[in-house]
Amino acid sequence: MKQNTLKLNTGASIPQLGFGTWQINPSSRAEKATLAAFEAGYRHVDTARVYLNEKGVGHAIKNSTLPREDIFLTTKLWRGEKNVAKALDKSLKRLDQDYVDLYLMHWPQDDRIEAWKVMEQLHKDGTAKAIGVSNFTVRHLTELMEQTDIVPAINQVEFHPFLYQKELLEFCNKHGIIVEAYSPLAHGSKLADPTIVEVATHYDKSPAQIMIRWAVEHDMVVIPKSKNPERIAQNLDVLDFKIDKNDMALLDNLNEDLRTCWDPTNAA
Ligand code: A2P
Repeated sequence: MKQNTLKLNTGASIPQLGFGTWQINPSSRAEKATLAAFEAGYRHVDTARVYLNEKGVGHAIKNSTLPREDIFLTTKLWRGEKNVAKALDKSLKRLDQDYVDLYLMHWPQDDRIEAWKVMEQLHKDGTAKAIGVSNFTVRHLTELMEQTDIVPAINQVEFHPFLYQKELLEFCNKHGIIVEAYSPLAHGSKLADPTIVEVATHYDKSPAQIMIRWAVEHDMVVIPKSKNPERIAQNLDVLDFKIDKNDMALLDNLNEDLRTCWDPTNAA
């Protein structure tokens, strides 16, 4: 299956659809699910220190027959880690990798400016081919860009029709930061919403496929997650149709500021 890619501000390409692995535990299960994702055609996998499954994702990469350069791998710095360089080194050891394609600061942590400066160095050293952030608001991004040199390549945030963060998306677009949508299915909580079901029926697609396609139409990277091989494959199968303007407007109107994960609005 041919994958859509987007261009990062480093010049590298990122597959628009990635496989999310949050809550896929333990590592043996993450390995199985990631292998199913590679089998289905995903070439982009997203993990994090705090997901406690980097080992499993690393095993899947080693045990797949795919060349490493065909896979886009992301992991994240957890906020409790004081030594940022060591934290990446430990992640690389667990992943059994020499580099990641993307290293994200998982949260706007208190010492984020100092931590970002170390991440800039890791990028220059080549162990993090690109660097970005997660759960950053416009305020956090503005502050970071004022005080540091490298503009984040990615801001990974919760994003779906029920949390349509239009202002954040426009801000990121303006600064060449790609928004990456996590929990694009609102954690599975909105798949029976009448508007989602109506639009899904219109295109003969599943509600999950409509929510994922909505994010694709907004030019975001999207990382749905599933433990089930059929749903893993289904979530990637969203490139053979387009949602028309009227239906996009219907979906855009579903916003209710619903957060199913964390709310970083008041993170100091
Ligand atoms: P499962 O792992 O059993 O498939 P999100 O990515 O927004 O956090 O959503 C993940 C949740 O949505 C999980 O509970 C997952 O369950 C479920 N899910 C993932 N893909 C689909 C799908 N295509 N149809 C229905 N539920 C799905």
